[in-house]
Amino acid sequence: MDKFVIEGGERLIGNVKISGSKNAALPLLAATLLQKGVYEIENVPKLKDINTMSKLFAVLGAKVQWIKEGVLQVDTTGVENYVAPYELVKQMRASVLVLGSLTGGLKRAVVSYPGGCAIGERPINLHIQGLQALGCDVTIKEGYVDVNAKKLRGARIRFDTTTVGGTENIMMAAVLAKGETIIENAAREPEVVDLARMLKKMGAKIEGEGTEIIKIKGVDELTPCKYTVIPDRIETGTFLIACGITRGNIVIEGCNPGHIKALLDKLKEAGMDITEDGDKIKASMTKKRASAVDIKTAPYPGFPTDMQAQIMALMTVSRGVSAITEIIFENRMMHAAELRRMGADIKVIGNTAIVRGVKMLSGAKVMATDLRASASLILAGLTAYGKTEILRIYHLDRGYEAIEEKLKKLGAKIERVKDEGLGA
Ligand code: EPU
Repeated sequence: MDKFVIEGGERLIGNVKISGSKNAALPLLAATLLQKGVYEIENVPKLKDINTMSKLFAVLGAKVQWIKEGVLQVDTTGVENYVAPYELVKQMRASVLVLGSLTGGLKRAVVSYPGGCAIGERPINLHIQGLQALGCDVTIKEGYVDVNAKKLRGARIRFDTTTVGGTENIMMAAVLAKGETIIENAAREPEVVDLARMLKKMGAKIEGEGTEIIKIKGVDELTPCKYTVIPDRIETGTFLIACGITRGNIVIEGCNPGHIKALLDKLKEAGMDITEDGDKIKASMTKKRASAVDIKTAPYPGFPTDMQAQIMALMTVSRGVSAITEIIFENRMMHAAELRRMGADIKVIGNTAIVRGVKMLSGAKVMATDLRASASLILAGLTAYGKTEILRIYHLDRGYEAIEEKLKKLGAKIERVKDEGLGA
């Protein structure tokens, strides 16, 4: 198993190019199951999660191949199988996104019911209720969600909780349903908007994406298309914090600053100099230390839960006391215990972490527990005194393309090495 070894203390300086968004690419790939044919998806990041989705597609009867750097060709012509097996769904929860597209495309889906994960229980009750409202017959059998969609028809669906995956699944099922669907309390995330845009390019009739109410008029068929994935806003945010925590000076290229307004506001409040310039962000931290800021995660356009761990890393070395409250997932503070091993002063009370900034962290061996927690440990390692070893970095490979290469280019001392120890 690989680990990262980081020698902290280098200021990050230079330019970094942002990859395509993982959380946009996965539903876009799922959408190709709605209509048989050949698709080209551009700006797809090379990530473990994308490989897992490709494996799932192979099982379903689709062919997925890289035809150029960043371009995936997806041929769903031969898709006949509608069973997403446990072995793949357990590797990646986002496999559940084929629930909506198989339902819409094949009118039948049998998808392994995803279990809990490190950050929370993450039920899919709202996906199921939405599909039932669309006239589907849904049963849970032997660990699988079995959807029969012979009578797929539009409906008014109101989500009790805003759900990104739920909104995406229902949108995908509804585009080929008879009649009109109205989704209330829909997720407004840029990834949901990206999916709506691709579906519209395929001929779907959708209005209101990016607002709380999405209206969909079902059509009889769609057309395969070419589509380009939006830049990864969480990768963008992670590099911004890497700049802040190392008191660096970087230019982030190929990003969409409009997608991370809540984060940019907080980083400015913390003392970072940030200039937006089209698809670039120029960022520098000229102050000696960031000032503490309070954070509360929220659905988009609020502060993203996927940036909570990373901003906590920044707050561990800030001036003052910061309160960080996580409201989306019930167990997304596992990084706090690891950051403490590096000398951070963090007290977790319920879903709030009280972080008292210290002058300096010290390198340590730490364990990555989930994707964004892993990113926060890298950030802490970049500023810590001495050597940090991060074990279990396979979590990072799920969601950050070539992170060590990008960080090295900015001057970080980070190496991927085989871990021969017992702790991996
Ligand atoms: N929820 C329910 N019932 C449901 C669905 C969701 O109670 O049927 C709850 C969840 O338990 C959670 C909240 O609603 O408390 C929001 O969950 P949501 O459905 O929005 O999350 P998701 O679609 O499973 C996506 C991202 C996550 C990101 C969240 C929130 C993908 C593939 N995943 O998950 O990304 O944290 O939205 O923004 O898009 C990550 O990239 O590290 C990651 C975890």
